Amino acid sequence: MRPFREGCAVDTENDIRAILETPSGEKLTVRRLRRGDGPALQAFDAGLSEQTRSVFLPHAYDDDTVAEYIGRSEQNVDRTYIALAGDRIVAYFFLWEIGRPNAILGIGITDAYQNQGLGTQMVQILLEDAKALGLQGIELTTVPDNVRAFHLYEKVGFRYVCDVDNVAGDGRVVRERMMFYPIAPGAKPSGHAFGPPV
Ligand SMILES: CC(C)(COP(=O)(O)OP(=O)(O)OC[C@H]1O[C@@H](n2cnc3c(N)ncnc32)[C@H](O)[C@@H]1OP(=O)(O)O)[C@@H](O)C(=O)NCCC(=O)NCCS
Repeated sequence: MRPFREGCAVDTENDIRAILETPSGEKLTVRRLRRGDGPALQAFDAGLSEQTRSVFLPHAYDDDTVAEYIGRSEQNVDRTYIALAGDRIVAYFFLWEIGRPNAILGIGITDAYQNQGLGTQMVQILLEDAKALGLQGIELTTVPDNVRAFHLYEKVGFRYVCDVDNVAGDGRVVRERMMFYPIAPGAKPSGHAFGPPV
C-alpha cells in the first residue's frame, strides 16, 4: 500500500460542488467522496450493468481498496466526486493524482442516468477543477468500442493520442485509446503506465 502524499486534509463534510438536474427535473447533489461513503460506493458498483462495469472498473471495491480511495480523496491526493440521488450514489467521477502535472480522469454513471447530458456536465466540473488546480493537462483511457465516451471527450476538447495498455480494477490488461486535454501551453502526455494508482 502506497502512503498518501503529504498535504492538508480537506474538510469534505459540507462540500457540495454542484447540483445537477436531470431532464425530468430530478436534482442530483455532487460532492466530494468522504468517510462513510464506502457502503454506498460498493452499492453503486454492484448496481452497474455488466456492460457498464466492463468499461468502468477503475479499481476493486473490497473494503480495504474503497477505504484507500476515500482516504486519497480526503487527503487531496485525488479529486473525487460522487453524484447522489437522495442517499444513492448514481455517478462516481474523479481526477486521480492531482499533485502531478497531468491528472487522470475517470467517470462512471449508473445505467438509468446515462445519456441525459449529466456526463458532459460532470466532465466540465473536472475540467474546471483541473484548471483551478493549475494542472498542465488531463489524461484518460477509454476502450475502443466506447463510442459514446469517446464522442463526449472529443466534444469537450480531449484529443486521441495513441493506444496504450491499461490495467483494469480486476487486473485485466486492456488495450485502450489514450486521450489528452492540454491546459498549459505546450503540455504533453506524461507517458506513464495506466492502471489503479494503489
Ligand atoms: C460515458 C458516460 C460517462 C457519458 O455520460 P452521459 O451522461 O451518458 O453522456 P451525455 O449524455 O452527457 O453525452 C453523451 C454524448 O454522446 C452521444 N452519444 C450517445 N450514444 C452514442 C453513441 N452510441 N455513439 C456516438 N455518440 C453517442 C450523445 O448524443 C451525447 O453527445 P451530444 O451531447 O453531442 O449529443 C456515461 O454514459 C457512462 O458512465 N457510461 C458507462 C461507463 C463509461 O463508459 N465510462 C467511461 C469510461 S472511459
